[in-house]
Amino acid sequence: MASFKEYWILMGIFIITGYCFWFWKKNKMEKKGGVPKGNLGWPFIGETLDFIACGYSSRPVSFMDKRKSLYGKVFKTHILGTPIIVSTDPDVNKVVLQNHGNPFVPSYPKSITELLGKFSILQMNGNLQKRLHALIGGFLRSPQLKATNTKDIENSVKLSLASWKDMNILYVQEQTKQMTFEVLVKVLMSIGPGEDLNYLKKEFEEFIKGLICLPIKLPGTRLYKSLKAKERLLNMVRKIVEKRKQAMEKSGEKGAVAKDAVDVLLRENDEANEKQSLPLDFISGNIIEMMIPGEETVPMAMTLAVKFLSDSPIALKQLTEENMELKRQKTESCDDYSWTDYVSLPFTQNVINETLRMANIINGVWRKALKDVEIKGHLIPQGWCVLASFISVHMDEENYDDPYQFDPWRWEKMGAAINNNNFTPFGGGQRLCPGLELSRLEISIFLHHLVTTYKWVAENDDIVSFPTVKMKRKLPITVTPIST
Ligand code: HEM
Repeated sequence: MASFKEYWILMGIFIITGYCFWFWKKNKMEKKGGVPKGNLGWPFIGETLDFIACGYSSRPVSFMDKRKSLYGKVFKTHILGTPIIVSTDPDVNKVVLQNHGNPFVPSYPKSITELLGKFSILQMNGNLQKRLHALIGGFLRSPQLKATNTKDIENSVKLSLASWKDMNILYVQEQTKQMTFEVLVKVLMSIGPGEDLNYLKKEFEEFIKGLICLPIKLPGTRLYKSLKAKERLLNMVRKIVEKRKQAMEKSGEKGAVAKDAVDVLLRENDEANEKQSLPLDFISGNIIEMMIPGEETVPMAMTLAVKFLSDSPIALKQLTEENMELKRQKTESCDDYSWTDYVSLPFTQNVINETLRMANIINGVWRKALKDVEIKGHLIPQGWCVLASFISVHMDEENYDDPYQFDPWRWEKMGAAINNNNFTPFGGGQRLCPGLELSRLEISIFLHHLVTTYKWVAENDDIVSFPTVKMKRKLPITVTPIST
């Protein structure tokens, strides 16, 4: 057995070798001309501690701001185990997102890549990603889906809101999560409330706990437990997909409109020739993986809208008036709401834009360069990661006056800017979020029924941005029904 002294000598050699390797790598990278300026920080940990500390503060963007003022809008740093080039420049972000000629591929921490699987839409590249993106995007944007979905979302929101009146205190983050999960699972695989939904929810929660964790796959570790949960999820979803395929073959029902994402992907199987068809395992895996970007984002947007509105009574008043007017018209005409009713209220849409701008639920995207890429004179060398930071653009006073002010009225002046590079809560280019319109519809329906049913008082709570955006206390509120 090694003595205490030998142990320390070995440790010393290990640390010195590691440091020399890091120093060599740092010098090599810095010698490459055109690489943006910046600091790679300490060996191994780089500038991660400052990055995390800022993520826990009320100004997560201060990490970027400090470096932007020292090195310019594009700089290099070393965070979460990777040397990375950070772009806070909307034009550079646009080129990264558009990804013409596919020089960039998605890059995630090791635990995420382990859990996603090789053929997940989130990390695939090339033609198969494009095909899947087009199929899912086309389905989620279709007016037929929006029409049927509007009823489902309304039911889920109304049921949940009805239960609020008996609660002394309720947690908006929890409540919105429950209602949006139901909608998501219905859209993806037509499962309604009941045992299957509860099982899916339980296993999915276990699965996503491992997305950001140490990438060690031994029994008992977080990653191991999450992988096991994914296996159970896959078993369940595979059975659903198989059953649906058999039913489809039996009825020969090819012409009807797809009712959910499973249907869309199975039809593609049917319509394409055998060689190009999507394997059932591929379909099941992707259905689960599509739950990841949908599961937390929409409820967090709803929760943060409630938070920002609680702090801005004038905006809340205008939002309530606009929605009360729609409710009054609908009550008088006895008509059902259509999806266009919800998304055409201008101030409500401005509130949603402003919420998404300030919430930065996805604060940026990580890519890896497959070859040297030069953008606006900045070199992103092959093998380097680049972070296109959306939060830096959304909170930059060059792009938005008084960016920390919740100001839905700014969108009255900026209307057309929604498609502009300065506003990218849903990303852009090749991987623009296919759930964009569904998300906006869900948030619109939630806000409509919330402000026309209740007044509320929110307790003090803070937003945390690391590892993902959350409310520290899940946003506790007390509600009082509005008499109309
Ligand atoms: C407020 C809500 C949402 C926000 C802020 C959001 C944001 C984003 C962003 C920024 C991306 C781009 C990621 C990248 O470029 O790597 C993305 C992609 C994606 N989103 Fe969303 N999302 C939301 C809701 C949803 C919902 C409800 C669904 C599903 C029904 C969904 C499904 C997807 C999928 C499948 C992708 C991957 C697309 C691809 O790589 O081709 N998202 N989302």
